[in-house]
Formats: sequence, structure tokens, C-alpha cells
Amino acid sequence: MRGIKIGVLGLGTVGSGVVRLLRDHQAKISSITGCQLEIKTIVVHNLNKQRNVDLTGIELTDQFTKILNDPEIKIVVEVMGTVETAKNYVEQLLQAGKHIITANKDLIATYGAELAELARANGCDLFYEASVAGGIPILRTIVNSFAADRIVEVKGIVNGTTNYILTQMSQQQVSFSAALKAAQDLGFAEPDPTNDVEGIDAAYKMVILTQFAFGMNISMKQLKISGISDVKLADIQQAKELGYNIKLLGIAKLIDDRVDVSVGPVLVPKDQPLAAVQNENNAVLVTGAAVGETMFYGPGAGELPTANSVLSDIIAVAKDIVLETTGSRFNDFQRDLKQARPAD
Ligand code: NDP
Ligand code: HSE
Repeated sequence: MRGIKIGVLGLGTVGSGVVRLLRDHQAKISSITGCQLEIKTIVVHNLNKQRNVDLTGIELTDQFTKILNDPEIKIVVEVMGTVETAKNYVEQLLQAGKHIITANKDLIATYGAELAELARANGCDLFYEASVAGGIPILRTIVNSFAADRIVEVKGIVNGTTNYILTQMSQQQVSFSAALKAAQDLGFAEPDPTNDVEGIDAAYKMVILTQFAFGMNISMKQLKISGISDVKLADIQQAKELGYNIKLLGIAKLIDDRVDVSVGPVLVPKDQPLAAVQNENNAVLVTGAAVGETMFYGPGAGELPTANSVLSDIIAVAKDIVLETTGSRFNDFQRDLKQARPAD
């Protein structure tokens, strides 16, 4: 059976999950793809850090060039975060003809179209299913299952950390800072949790969802963004007494040929499905002119759910390599994006 070697950038929450899942499901993945997928090299920042995953047969290094210059490595998984460093690495890797999978929404929301163009020019795939809503396969669902519909609205809970904090504050009367600390310890939060609590992480995801749902590129500057750092225990309790749960929602609406995209805390009536989404779970409601309202629910953050989405991308790339059909539909549709005209 043909072997395909993988390089990984980052061995934190998501990277460890990728190593674990690939090892645990090796045989099944081989039978689906028709090839033996193997992680050869992982790049980390700190070589002295204790790792809690079996790295037998894998080279751990702090040298990015070990992956860049290895002709055997055909697929690279970027799960280290950052924007400019990740962009620099991904550009070099694409220029070297390596297929890229990333969970980095900051990177894709900022430079997705540019990187997709580079991927296309070099005959590479660029996949990023894990970048939005962690374990929910929402991007591929929109690309494949809404192809014959016209999406008019996408809204939902797309940040696990803030939903975890709001749930803990509401149900356990835990303070904001204690709930945030727990979310960090569980591996849900970004390295700088400001992005989570101020709605920036959710906004990056709404930029990507707007691209997929409406074929429009909207910049972060065009979004209305507010987070949950000002939400107090008393606000949550008062909302509950009135029959509401406070949720951080991302909302993207098509209004004629314009889009209105926002992120902010919303009072959600308790009898609505979004009000019942707890802890790190996410839920995305996609409304199509033909299908009506649909809802996709699942873990929005965490090691194994996110790694599962990364693995689904790895499998898609491996199939492309085996079938010699590179040039993903993610890349193709990025080419056709129109600049969004925000609603007034
Ligand atoms: P972590 O902080 O847990 O891990 C980051 C890893 O990247 C670490 O292993 C770190 O090395 C390594 N790293 C960081 N900077 C560099 C660098 N300059 N060179 C080499 N290695 C580097 O992050 P997560 O695993 O939580 O997140 C990774 C990505 O996945 C982010 O883009 C995040 O937004 C995204 N994501 C995360 C989810 C989650 O639930 N955590 C869910 C969905 C997406 P070292 O270990 O040596 O410090
Ligand atoms: N920090 C992010 C969240 C990780 O809490 O949703 C998943 O993208």
C-alpha cells in the first residue's frame, strides 16, 4: 500500500488529538483512503516541554525547515496558531507543493483568499474544516449540501469558550474569571483568551461562514463585534428570571445583495434551541430559501472533536493525492468570492 507522510506544526491541544486519532484509527483510515498515512515530523516551540501523547516513530523538532525541506512529506497540518508566522510558513509550504490543513481561523479569515490562490497555483489543497465550530462539519456541509439552495441566514454559537463561561456562570454561579480559567485548563481557549471573550474568535468564524454561505468576502472591520467581558452574574440571573439565557451569537444575514454580520451577546428565549446549547458546544442554524431552517450541533472546541475535523481534511487530501485530483472545492469557491457590501 502507498505511504503518505505528514508533517504537523504544533503539538498542543489540537496537535495531540491529531496524533492520537490517527494512531487509533490507522487501519480504518487506510481502508478509506487506500494509503498508509503516517506522521513523520512535528514542529514545536519548546522541545523540553512534557508531552502526553505517544510519539513513537515521530521526530519532534523546533526547526520548521525539517518539514519544509523534506520531499517525503506531502501533507502539512498547521495547528500552532498565530497569523503572520503561520502565513509565512503556509506560503513556503504551498510553494514547495505541500497540501495544507489548518484549524487556524485567524489565518483563514485574514488571508484565506490569498492562500487559496497560492494553493491553486501550486496544485495543492488547502482545507480548514476545523477552523469553524470545532467538531461540527459545517463548512463541508455548506459546500456540498446547500449547493442547490440559496442561504439567506447563518447564525449561532460559534465560540466554545464563551458558551462554556456563560453556562458555568448561569448554572453554577461561578465567577467570570473562574469559568475562563476552567475553559483554559480544558484546552478550549485561544492562547490569548481576549480573542474568545471579546468576540474576535467568533468574528473570524463569521467571516469564514459568510464566505461559504453567501460567496462574499467581508473584512473584520466591517463586522459589529462585542464580547461577554462586561456580562455580570447579576445580568445572567436577571435574564433567567425573565425567561432568557444570554448567549454570544454570530449572525450573518443576506439583505438583498448586502450582508449584515455581527457578533454579540443576545437574550435568547429559553424555549429556543440555541438557549439549550451548553458548555463548549456550538450550534449553527443555516436557513436556506428552499430548505428552510436547519441546525447543526456539537462540540465547538476541545482536543478530540477538533482533531476529528482535521482528520476528515487529511482523509480528503489523501484521496485527492491517490486519485490525482488536487485542487479542492474550498480553493475553487474562494476564487469566486465577491467583496461584500455591508448593510447600512
Ligand atoms: P495550543 O496553544 O494548545 O498549541 C499550540 C502548539 O503550537 C504548541 O505545541 C506550541 O509549541 C506550538 N507553537 C506555537 N507557536 C509556534 C511556533 N512559532 N513554532 C513552532 N511551534 C509553535 O493551541 P491549540 O492546539 O489549542 O490550537 C491550535 C490551533 O487550532 C489554533 O489556531 C486554534 O485557534 C485552533 N483551534 C483550536 C481549538 C481548540 O479547541 N483548542 C478548536 C479549533 C481550532 P509548544 O508546545 O512547544 O509550546
Ligand atoms: N477558542 C475557540 C473556542 C476554539 O473556544 O471556540 C475553537 O475554535
